[in-house]
Amino acid sequence: MTQRSENSPWGWARTGFHYGATPFIGRTQELAMVRSAVDQARVVTLTGPGGVGKTRIALQAMRDLDDDFPGGVGIVELSGLRNAEFLPNTVAAAMSLPEAAGMEPIDQVIEYFSAGRALLVLDTCEHLVDAIAAFAAILLGHTAELVLLLTSRQSVALAGEFVLPIGPMPQPDAGCDETNNDTLKLFAARARAASPSFALCDDNRAEVLALCRRLDGIPLAIELAAARLRTMPLELILRRLDNRFQTLAGARSAQTRHQTLRAAIAWSYDLCDQAEQELWARLSVFAGGFPLAAVEDVCRGDALEGFDVVETLGSLVDKSVVQCLEAAAGPPLPDAGHDPRVRRRRPGVHQPQ
Ligand SMILES: Nc1ncnc2c1ncn2[C@@H]1O[C@H](COP(=O)(O)OP(=O)(O)OP(=O)(O)O)[C@@H](O)[C@H]1O
Ligand SMILES: [Mg+2]
Repeated sequence: MTQRSENSPWGWARTGFHYGATPFIGRTQELAMVRSAVDQARVVTLTGPGGVGKTRIALQAMRDLDDDFPGGVGIVELSGLRNAEFLPNTVAAAMSLPEAAGMEPIDQVIEYFSAGRALLVLDTCEHLVDAIAAFAAILLGHTAELVLLLTSRQSVALAGEFVLPIGPMPQPDAGCDETNNDTLKLFAARARAASPSFALCDDNRAEVLALCRRLDGIPLAIELAAARLRTMPLELILRRLDNRFQTLAGARSAQTRHQTLRAAIAWSYDLCDQAEQELWARLSVFAGGFPLAAVEDVCRGDALEGFDVVETLGSLVDKSVVQCLEAAAGPPLPDAGHDPRVRRRRPGVHQPQ
């Protein structure tokens, strides 16, 4: 429940904090990028779709970077905070700062962070981006050495923000096993936890590879699928993935939005405005990738009348719902520079039903 740095007296409460509950796997490159980013910028945001592993990377970075921040490292998890007004109070409370008469919580936090180089992780910021940006600007403006590491499905658009997009774990090729592919390693580790007799072997390798590919390297989806091995054979899980909202459900987790794939997606869907939700629904006509121009042709009109479809699509990209890909071929598009293609994030992981 608590992350306590040996160098500092901090004992920060974090609801549902499950640091180290399962082994951390891979992400060497991402951790190196976080290390380099916090040396260059005072606010670094890990962005990416739900369940891709932003929080786990931030937690591991805290552990790795502990010595670089003698003022301490700590994390405040914000998914439960609905009223942005209480952001400073929430941070002060999570840091166990005693209430001080006549002092605003934000001033207490500033005073605390004036004492040395510290790393504050604000975890799950996408529903509070405006408040986080304002809070961060004040904190950074009044402290000299504090560094903020944010996790968010959307960047907070703060001047000086270093945005580090987190992608899926690596797709396994036919020759891979758990010693040379982190996605397989994750699946095998979680599968063994669900069903101790599980072993990745020649008999099941093709099915496991197919499963990991279809789940697009999203750790949350892989964990939920592996947890299913408790009650279902691998081959059935794979077959039922077409209805993955039902199949990838039921895992127990500290956070409600990670208990089912549907909940992980619904969290993003609920943070979209009406036009974004409408476009998101319409994008379901495309299977896999699609050229940008097709979106305008296919998705214009009716409930999206009066909205700039490309701009709305851009908002879905910002919110990590849709991914921009480089096209292999195709004529350049205006304003795009290099003919991006766009796709819904697969495999339905980021599509509401
Ligand atoms: N590198 C990893 N090693 C082991 N487990 C991982 C790793 N990355 C992610 N996971 C697991 O996958 C699940 C989802 O990861 P995480 O909570 O970090 O996603 P997230 O990107 O923060 O999602 P959200 O946007 O919903 O907050 C968690 O149960 C986490 O423990
Ligand atoms: Mg998270």
